[in-house]
Amino acid sequence: MDESKVAIVTGASSGIGLAVAKRWTERGGRVALIARTADKLEAAARELGGERAVAFPLDVLDLDALTALPERVAERFGRLDVVVNNAGLNHRGPVERFTPAQLAQVVTTNLVAPIVLSRAALPRLDRGGSIVQVASLAGMVPVPGEAAYSASKAGLRAFARAAAYDVEERGIHIGCVCPGPVDTGFLGDLEEVPDIVLSQPMISADEVARAVLQCIDERVDEIALPARSGRLATMAYLAPSFARKIRPVLERRGARNKQALLAARRRS
Ligand SMILES: NC(=O)c1ccc[n+]([C@@H]2O[C@H](COP(=O)([O-])OP(=O)(O)OC[C@H]3O[C@@H](n4cnc5c(N)ncnc54)[C@H](OP(=O)(O)O)[C@@H]3O)[C@@H](O)[C@H]2O)c1
Repeated sequence: MDESKVAIVTGASSGIGLAVAKRWTERGGRVALIARTADKLEAAARELGGERAVAFPLDVLDLDALTALPERVAERFGRLDVVVNNAGLNHRGPVERFTPAQLAQVVTTNLVAPIVLSRAALPRLDRGGSIVQVASLAGMVPVPGEAAYSASKAGLRAFARAAAYDVEERGIHIGCVCPGPVDTGFLGDLEEVPDIVLSQPMISADEVARAVLQCIDERVDEIALPARSGRLATMAYLAPSFARKIRPVLERRGARNKQALLAARRRS
């Protein structure tokens, strides 16, 4: 029987989720890949190796399907050790630009779904099991133009912290990874990204994947990356007047970074 550890990774067909699945399988783990687009997910499973990676096409907004997932995965692989709640959604712009349903979709994808999947997975996890929530720096300090997104990611951090206490006596770890801007399709049209977001250094999906594995291995409560950006975000959250003061400076820096990134993309 294959005793290698099994992880569920949501949002696993691209970006951070795919990078996590790659690192997990490279170290000998097996993985259930979750995303909506079946053909992309099947291609990812083939790339990672058919026996180690299996596609489970699913929309995390389907909370019943999400609830049933840990059992399906445990049946397929014989065990479940890790869940990485990574699928996410952002609608950028002032809050009134979006319908109530669009705003609710952001909160359901980023917060309700991870809570539901964590709850469903817990009875299947043994001592040593781990759940990692992929939040954001936007959950550490609210970002203008990303109100529902910031709220959902702040909520996800709060859920991780509180639920970690609930399960620690059972030897189960729940942690959180909070990246700044990451070079994936998630950012969309760079012109539309708020300047303040790009004031922080852009990192790669693989750097975030490394942090996710570190969070699992070392059973860390929370990792912000880059670490310096995490410290700045915490200070800005604790002192709203400081946040207002430094905002124009950060926006100017972000605007410069944005132009440099756009120029680099035009050249490539
Ligand atoms: N990129 C950044 O700058 C950044 C910064 C901080 C935090 N994050 C967080 O990192 C996470 C991953 O982002 P990423 O940058 O890797 O994005 P990405 O490259 O766009 O990948 C998103 C993944 O999520 C899947 N997905 C989206 N909605 C889904 C749904 N309703 N149900 C199931 N799967 C869904 C997508 O596949 P399908 O479309 O096929 O479903 C895809 O596999 C998100 O939670 C995001 O908030 C990203």
